[in-house]
Amino acid sequence: MTWFDKKPIIVLAPMADMTDGPFCRICREVSGNNFVIFREMVSAEAIVRGNEKTLKMCEFDMGERLIILQLFGADPKRIQKAAEIIVTKYKPDGIDVNMGCPVPKIAGKADSGAALMKDHDRAIAIVKALKNANLGVPVSIKTRLGWSKDDEILEFAPKLEQAGADLISIHGRTKSQGYSGVANWEMIGKVKELVKIPVIANGNIVTREDMKHCLEVTRADGVMIGRGSLGNPWIFQQYPNIQISKYPQLQDIIDVVLQHAKLHEQYYGNLVTFRKHLAHYFKGISGMKALRQELMKISTLEELKNILKKIPLK
Ligand SMILES: Cc1cc2nc3c(=O)[nH]c(=O)nc-3n(C[C@H](O)[C@H](O)[C@H](O)COP(=O)(O)O)c2cc1C
Repeated sequence: MTWFDKKPIIVLAPMADMTDGPFCRICREVSGNNFVIFREMVSAEAIVRGNEKTLKMCEFDMGERLIILQLFGADPKRIQKAAEIIVTKYKPDGIDVNMGCPVPKIAGKADSGAALMKDHDRAIAIVKALKNANLGVPVSIKTRLGWSKDDEILEFAPKLEQAGADLISIHGRTKSQGYSGVANWEMIGKVKELVKIPVIANGNIVTREDMKHCLEVTRADGVMIGRGSLGNPWIFQQYPNIQISKYPQLQDIIDVVLQHAKLHEQYYGNLVTFRKHLAHYFKGISGMKALRQELMKISTLEELKNILKKIPLK
């Protein structure tokens, strides 16, 4: 049994500073067990050097399974070593390698993330090193359509497959597009026809209807949801039954915000970095403008509770 046997595979996308332990646990609690969690990427170098903060980012509760830990890095041997360390220490259900991150710190000088889409030999060497390590868990790759052109993936994906990758997740945009523009699901569909390993489609999926539509267009084995889950950990609930009877009401949101905030405070010691989640939870809710501004100043659970009490419940 692997983490991708059950189809369609529904996945929470890895998002740096977002899909940390507290957020992943909340998604699991409100949405149940029918989806796979990708934790935010961690540096292979930092793992190998024994950086405590990075190692702590890999810890998870048993209840969070199925869970994949994602590494970024450039050196095949160091990535292999990092994977061996985290598989032995934490026993995740899979190891993923980031080959799509566009931020200059990673894709620029560091030769990792999206830069690997331009250096196929290095990308192949990374996959081979991980497969040679016999980690006992699948090795997957998360990438984009290309550096600047949508069809670059048609050359890259078969190479990853040949090198031994067990699955590929494809964000349907190029590195040049960043996070804007419409994801090209048709191109992901072409990759699906080209390779035998499972393909997960990603990009522009913000509702359960989008999940269904994306699966139809791409015929992919699964869908991965990133920003659509922020402030909406319910999105994975009961898929593919999109006719669910109960969508979250304001009181449900408040209850989950409190639950999430407690976990966040336990983990980080305060709620300063929770403000970004609050912005997502209360986005677009009418009559909240002034309260939203207050929420952006909170640092403690007490402060948060006091503001939440002021939200008018109809
Ligand atoms: C804040 C943020 C952080 C991200 N961090 C990562 C990451 O750590 N690893 C990764 O492979 N992709 C990362 N991504 C990309 C997402 O996993 C996903 O591919 C992208 O957001 C497109 O999917 P979406 O349209 O559903 O958001 C990040 C995206 C965002 C918005």
